Amino acid sequence: MTSILPHGGTLVQRIVEGEQRAKLLQDALEYPVIPLNTWTLSDLDLIAVGAFSPLTGFLNEADYHSVVKNMRLADGTVWSIPITLAIGEEQRALLSVGDRMSLTGEEDGVIYGLLDIESIYEVDQALEAQNVFKTLDPAHPGVSKLMARPATYVGGSITVLNRPQPEKFSEFYYDPAVTRQIFADKGWRTVVGFQTRNPVHRAHEYIQKCAMEVVDALFLNPLVGETKSDDVPANVRMKSYLVLLENYYPKDRTFLGVFPAAMRYAGPREAIFHAMVRKNYGCTHFIVGRDHAGVGDYYGTYEAQEIFSNFTAEELGITPLFFEHSFFCTKCGSMASNKTCPHGSEHHMALSGTKVRALLRDGQCPPPEFTRPEVAEVLIEGMSQEAAVQ
Ligand code: ADX
Repeated sequence: MTSILPHGGTLVQRIVEGEQRAKLLQDALEYPVIPLNTWTLSDLDLIAVGAFSPLTGFLNEADYHSVVKNMRLADGTVWSIPITLAIGEEQRALLSVGDRMSLTGEEDGVIYGLLDIESIYEVDQALEAQNVFKTLDPAHPGVSKLMARPATYVGGSITVLNRPQPEKFSEFYYDPAVTRQIFADKGWRTVVGFQTRNPVHRAHEYIQKCAMEVVDALFLNPLVGETKSDDVPANVRMKSYLVLLENYYPKDRTFLGVFPAAMRYAGPREAIFHAMVRKNYGCTHFIVGRDHAGVGDYYGTYEAQEIFSNFTAEELGITPLFFEHSFFCTKCGSMASNKTCPHGSEHHMALSGTKVRALLRDGQCPPPEFTRPEVAEVLIEGMSQEAAVQ
């Protein structure tokens, strides 16, 4: 069976093994070092396994400007989020175009890879923030991360020699080449990808299952990289996904694998990025609901859907499936949206994230119309453990 083509046509593979790896690791000891934080390390690994195809490294200058301005690489390929490597002044003084650098973990000192420097450039961070996040507000988690970085970037192709090792749930880490093979082996012709940084509540389940009615299978692909501190930690979420899948999803049409990337909270632009990446994992369809990848009220409810109209179906390659804001309607007695429910909002169950967190923190289950009791129990346990640690 032929699967959907990766973005740009070829699945990038930048991991070197065997004798060549041993030799490069030896050589790497001689090169100047660029330390990587957890975020950039996750980008490095995702580039190497092809999740960010067609990128083969951190963005070079021309691609960077084109992405920031036009949501495309310099050759016109759709790409909405700058994947970049920032360096401090001290390092800047040591580097030149043409150099080869060792990329090491900031915390563990492990040599994860090499960078062949093709460009070194200064950026206008305010312009990047305004274009990518649509705000300069330092209270926006993506903007504050961006502004805290130096404004000098280095671009170039990477080679990976060591992979970051997950502490937990390692059995749910699959590279794009593997998910593609698994989907093909299962005989799935159409697979819908679902991005989430939250526990799966009833609204998520509803839109996933609506999508599952029209495709062969669901790839539940929670983001488990860096998130903001008040998001539910990935380890707790993973337990909640497992208990939900076990009890409410068909095993032969559902697949759980993590997306070990950092969350940018870039709303519309991140929705495009999330879709391209899921295409690389082998999905043919991708769910975009209300305020996808949003935070606070920086983005309009459906802006992350509207942005797709900037690109043709051929350019995107993956089919976005858009869903309206969904809720439980007490009159309908079911999940619904304004597309399917004729009743007034007084009949719609609305619980804010803050309210749900407060209930869970008090050890109380939110109503089952909002969260499955099995999921709520996992979240309550997770929160009480977290509180015990603090
Ligand atoms: S996100 O930052 O990863 O997008 P979240 O995990 O809450 O946040 O959302 C996952 C997906 O479900 C996104 O596509 C989002 O738009 C969608 N979604 C979340 N809640 C709802 C809802 N009540 N109705 C419709 N879509 C929703």
